[in-house]
Amino acid sequence: MLPPAARLAARRLLGLATSSASESAAARRLSRSPISYAAAGCSSRLFSTALNYHLDSPENNPDMPWEFTEANMKKVLLFVSFIHFPVNEILSHYPSNYKQSGIIPMLDLAQQQHGGWVPVAAMNAIAKIVEVAPIRVYEVATFYTMFNRTKVGKYHLLVCGTTPCMIRGSREIEEALLEHLGVKRNEVTSDGLFSVGEMECMGCCVNAPMIAVADYSKGSEGYTYNYYEDLTPKRVVEIVEMLKRGETPPRGTQHPERKNCGPAGGNTTLHADMRRQW
Ligand code: FES
Repeated sequence: MLPPAARLAARRLLGLATSSASESAAARRLSRSPISYAAAGCSSRLFSTALNYHLDSPENNPDMPWEFTEANMKKVLLFVSFIHFPVNEILSHYPSNYKQSGIIPMLDLAQQQHGGWVPVAAMNAIAKIVEVAPIRVYEVATFYTMFNRTKVGKYHLLVCGTTPCMIRGSREIEEALLEHLGVKRNEVTSDGLFSVGEMECMGCCVNAPMIAVADYSKGSEGYTYNYYEDLTPKRVVEIVEMLKRGETPPRGTQHPERKNCGPAGGNTTLHADMRRQW
């Protein structure tokens, strides 16, 4: 007989395997179709697939003008001049196409500037700056899930989808968010306030399950990225409601008996003040 935690983990892994098997079948059926999975109404459990597609829209197409702001362009030139004009002997050993190493920080900057997502026009602008084919920028932007390829809400709620959080109930957290907000994953609520995405391990597994709330509404200088940990479906909905009212929910653990990452209810070992031993 398996212990309860192992039974729970096995049940969750079985659920994931079943869901990805049926989605693979759906993916195979759609593989010859030019339309996206999302447009075909598939379930939201398609991980980041939606982010790998680009369909032209009035707010996201290669013809819209896009450039870095003057302040951000100064930062870009810093990346480029640092790379382009090696200041020491070590950098001069690298090949002349080293400029493309600036793609990731530039995409990050473009995302901060553009309200939390990177339109295709921004990617094309970056390709011009680093003098590579646009596909070189697209392949980076679609590989890293931290780059949002479609519009996000003022608060982009990123549910951790990695194993410790999943075993501790992150699927239920995501379901509670989607149901409460009335959206699918990566959709924006009609008031423009919220969207729900997935992020992989954010290094806070000890307080799983957790979400990060990204707010890019203040641009490159003022964006915030806050963690909320030890969540329950009820608590995550309360956090959303606080954000909606313009309040700032307390960050970090939401467990009433836990301090930071310590054990709930206090230490069970190492009771002594170790500093006195030295
Ligand atoms: S698994 Fe969620 S923070 Fe590590």
